[in-house]
Amino acid sequence: MPVTVRMPAKLNIALQVGPAREDGYHELQTIYHAVSLYDAVTVGDAPVGSGITITCTNEDVPVDSRNLAWKAAELIAESADVQPDVKIHIDKGIPVAGGMAGGSTDAAGTLIALNDLWQLDYSKERLQELAAQLGSDVPFCIGGGTQLGHGRGELLSPVLAKGSFHWVIATAQSGLSTPAVYEKLDEIRPDAEEPHIPEDLMAALRTNDARALGLQLHNDLEAAAIVLKPSLKRTLEAGIEAGALGALVSGSGPTIAFLARDAEHAVDVQIALSGSGFAHEVMTAHGPVRPAVI
Ligand code: C5P
Repeated sequence: MPVTVRMPAKLNIALQVGPAREDGYHELQTIYHAVSLYDAVTVGDAPVGSGITITCTNEDVPVDSRNLAWKAAELIAESADVQPDVKIHIDKGIPVAGGMAGGSTDAAGTLIALNDLWQLDYSKERLQELAAQLGSDVPFCIGGGTQLGHGRGELLSPVLAKGSFHWVIATAQSGLSTPAVYEKLDEIRPDAEEPHIPEDLMAALRTNDARALGLQLHNDLEAAAIVLKPSLKRTLEAGIEAGALGALVSGSGPTIAFLARDAEHAVDVQIALSGSGFAHEVMTAHGPVRPAVI
């Protein structure tokens, strides 16, 4: 029987980037937050010797070994000494190349689904170890929720977060390359400090205080993303003019997240922002949410 997992997108509601390391990555601290935009990843057995096949509802997504889900299937098959004869289908609801971990969450979903399909009984920690080999934010995607990421983003610590937050998500027409955004940041900000998430932000999460959280949203990569895509500045302003409590570029962008007071306010901001003409697509989402095997 095929196995389907529903995998959420992520926002970084804070992202502090430190200096570049010897291995080319940047030391960072981030608050990952999984939100209710989903991809559904389905895995099923394929005939012996047929290898990996991927299909996807979005034609902008590569369906060969460039897809992180492909690498995830190879990696878990190798670790379990299983032949990777598997069909993977990705039903895309998450913006592509948008800084919302769409590719990473599909890879995490592939690990979770194949663990189930092949009855490997791997622990969450074991899946996260494999996930770290695929990308910095893939371990977070295994568990979802709200978590503190450190190291290059692959090390996780729990965060005390109460209740839900409501978001308006604005996509851009074309994506940004993550390495290019980090490179641009090094260029425009040569003297980086050690990354640290402010206590006021942690307190806003603990008390479910959207107003306080709105004031604390910050992403060091935002300035670099704006240099590469200047139109983002106008979109950020348009969301604030539409009444959002705060805004930031998610991850390396170009997707922007706006914080709303509640679900109803999120729809008001969505309508105003759509009408402004400064965003491509505008959606609402709430978080934190978790992956689920359907
Ligand atoms: O880990 P992942 O493959 O998602 O990273 C993609 C690219 O983003 C890296 O090759 C690197 O250029 C950049 N990156 C970074 N520092 C991090 C995470 C990612 O410089 N902590």
